[in-house]
Amino acid sequence: MLRPIVAVGNLALHTKARKVSQIDRSVQRLIDDMIETMRAAPGVGLAAPQVGVPLRLAVIEVEDKVYVIVNPEIVKTSDEYEPDEGCLSVPGYWGRLKRYEKVSVRARDRAGKECRINAEGLLAQALQHEIDHLDGYLYVDRMREQMGDAWVEEFKKSPPPRKREVDQQEQQKRVRRPAGEVPE
Ligand code: CO
Repeated sequence: MLRPIVAVGNLALHTKARKVSQIDRSVQRLIDDMIETMRAAPGVGLAAPQVGVPLRLAVIEVEDKVYVIVNPEIVKTSDEYEPDEGCLSVPGYWGRLKRYEKVSVRARDRAGKECRINAEGLLAQALQHEIDHLDGYLYVDRMREQMGDAWVEEFKKSPPPRKREVDQQEQQKRVRRPAGEVPE
């Protein structure tokens, strides 16, 4: 089931989320809904507060692999870089900010099993972005923290370049699909 994504200004996005105590049927249902909602948006990641649920849980999809992170914690970081970033809760904008290039995250997966994700690049960025959501931070809050008032000049209207690239790839895929094949 698709769930509405709340936008900047909604209290759920600006509050520290609670730990998930048990991955029961309602949490499983929430995970399924969040994956569906993320794909429909489309987005690289979605945190529970973005659908108005104040729990420490997020989903990410990078290179066709879905990551479900429950009660995640960043346990190791590397050097910083400055990628472009956008957020489904701040539609129509993007900005550039400092993120760690690599992170190691400890979390539970959808089965409740403890797991560790060693990530770099887009996946590492998405992990930091989603974990920020669980602490009540949006990327624009990080931009403000990192560059003070100058952040406003760095905040750009229009979708992030990455999204445009993804859209183009999607279009090419559609063009390449042989006639008669049913889109998945
Ligand atoms: Co976001």
